[in-house]
Amino acid sequence: MTLLAGLRETFADGLVYVPGYLDAAAQRILLREIEAVIAAAPLFQPRMPKTGKPFSVEMTNCGPLGWVSDRDGGYRYQATHPETGRPWPPMPPLVLKAWSELGAYKHAPEACLVNAYGAAAHMGLHQDKDENDLGAPVVSLSLGESCIFRWGGTSRGGPTQSITLASGDAVVLAGKARLAFHGVPRILPGTSDLLPGRRINLTLRRVTAP
Ligand code: SIN
Ligand code: FE2
Repeated sequence: MTLLAGLRETFADGLVYVPGYLDAAAQRILLREIEAVIAAAPLFQPRMPKTGKPFSVEMTNCGPLGWVSDRDGGYRYQATHPETGRPWPPMPPLVLKAWSELGAYKHAPEACLVNAYGAAAHMGLHQDKDENDLGAPVVSLSLGESCIFRWGGTSRGGPTQSITLASGDAVVLAGKARLAFHGVPRILPGTSDLLPGRRINLTLRRVTAP
């Protein structure tokens, strides 16, 4: 894995953008690792609390805890896959390496959410706030098609800015940016040879308070 020293941009609001964090070889290895995760813990269709409306992304997780959402139980972390009932598979080596290199946090990550986007999938602006340890960073890794990534401050409806996230790019939400609203308004199909028509985002988080 190549960490291109210096190619790291910290925005005024604290969001850290690390373009090209994973080189092409590391992206291929990570993709194989995530395909193994999906083989053990199949992608499922999360649903919005109360309305039951399906998300446009599919999801799975690895690590001790996984983030899930359904109509009756709402947003939550749990130790088992909602359909198979089995524990989530362990986090692969490159995921743990990214947490230690980018997260720089004293405790291991507990959840790695895998979001799988098709060409038409998107994710509305939201905060990651289902974690009890909000002192820990959120580390995000992207594979496959590029996307527009939008983020703003900590209140809904405020100004936002956007960057294009490409395969191999990383983002860290920490400090002032930990509770920033963020989302993916669209995928940019035709930008990836690694995973044509698809984008996979990994979100690494610490969940329990130390
Ligand atoms: C998320 O916020 O859960 C996903 C963000 C992304 O897909 O880049
Ligand atoms: Fe998020």
